Amino acid sequence: MLESRRVELLFGNKETNFSMENFDKIRDFFPSLSRVDENNNKIIYLDGPGGTQVPIQVIEAISKYYIKCNANTHGEFVTSQETDKIMDDLRLKMSSFLGAEGPETISIGQNMTSLNYSLARALSKKFKKNDEVIITELDHEANRGPWKTLEEKGIKLIEVNLLKNGTLDYDDFRNKVNANTVMVCMGMSSNAIGTLNEFSKVKEFLSDDCLLLLDAVHYAPHFSINVKDIGCDFLVCSAYKFYGPHVGFLYSKPNLLEDLETDRLIVQDQKAPYIIETGTLNHAACSGVTAAIDFIASIGSGGSLQEMLKNAYARISQHEFTLAKHLYDNLMTFSKITVVGPDFSNTKRTPTVSFVHSELTPQRVCKALAKENICAWNGHFYAIKAIQALGLEQSGGVTRLGLSLYNTKHEVDRVLDVIKRL
Ligand SMILES: Cc1ncc(COP(=O)(O)O)c(C=O)c1O
Repeated sequence: MLESRRVELLFGNKETNFSMENFDKIRDFFPSLSRVDENNNKIIYLDGPGGTQVPIQVIEAISKYYIKCNANTHGEFVTSQETDKIMDDLRLKMSSFLGAEGPETISIGQNMTSLNYSLARALSKKFKKNDEVIITELDHEANRGPWKTLEEKGIKLIEVNLLKNGTLDYDDFRNKVNANTVMVCMGMSSNAIGTLNEFSKVKEFLSDDCLLLLDAVHYAPHFSINVKDIGCDFLVCSAYKFYGPHVGFLYSKPNLLEDLETDRLIVQDQKAPYIIETGTLNHAACSGVTAAIDFIASIGSGGSLQEMLKNAYARISQHEFTLAKHLYDNLMTFSKITVVGPDFSNTKRTPTVSFVHSELTPQRVCKALAKENICAWNGHFYAIKAIQALGLEQSGGVTRLGLSLYNTKHEVDRVLDVIKRL
């Protein structure tokens, strides 16, 4: 049985002196980060954009589910009813996490990609020939591929250009929106180069009946979200990027999902949010997602879960931005390094810093980092169109250093020291 480790909330409701130093203690909540290599180098995990590590609270919630109440839903027996409650609680919690109208707006799935494919298939039956759907060059393929399938139905796919500085071309965006545009599918931020997209500005130039879907997969680990304030129609995200297990979520504005012909069995619940969910969900992982949201909230203070989350994210993004700027500023002084993506002149950025080395391929750089027990990924990270548009595909893409809330200044300095010597 998993040994239960008592953890105290670092900040919680009682206001403590918030500083980089006590933020560093958060690292201790992540058992996987205590791993050391044969040279006694502590692991430095910089692949948060590929999936964050999970805190002990999440691990305990998942094992508790299997130890105590593993069952299918909708039964009359105790463990089944506890499972029903776990699923209801998660929808409620996720609805607060996203600032949504309520649990009926939260659909659960295997991951973001499969939910996006299901949604695209359902919408393909609603859209008409010559309707136009906009995607962007910056997006992960998971927010491009599903929409490209609509072309088989005569729906036109229009792509917004990516500028060389790593931001979307908003003039091009505005020009491509017209009376035939039925939907815009865009990321809130780039998992490849850390760009923060101006989705609120885009929302302003869309007509009321044009649907807006946001991919929040790389945004949710770093910033709080309020779908009502943004006014998006759909939003997709994945808990394994925000300290939880592998579970995907789809937010749909009230009454939108019910209107769609989703692929579903006649025996399942025929209403939102269930009508887009296929098969049995991963209940244990779902209880882990609830624990992940509680973990994030515990970093903040406030009277309600939403307030705590908002405050927690303000702290998280401040910590992450400070570290990422330190990383960026130093990388910029290394003659062999060119950072790809937006600069750090303002906070409109995620703490994901990508670069190329003038002599080594990104793969060679990552191998060298791995030798020092530093985990970083290389390539296109499935945002292949962005890497192509930036002219970096043939040379192996970029090296990506993705900071998360558990990273420390000491770690960043050690990484800089290794890169400087390459
Ligand atoms: C920005 C972005 N969108 C979508 C995805 C796909 O998410 P999932 O693995 O949950 O399908 C990823 C995964 O890396 C991502 O970074």
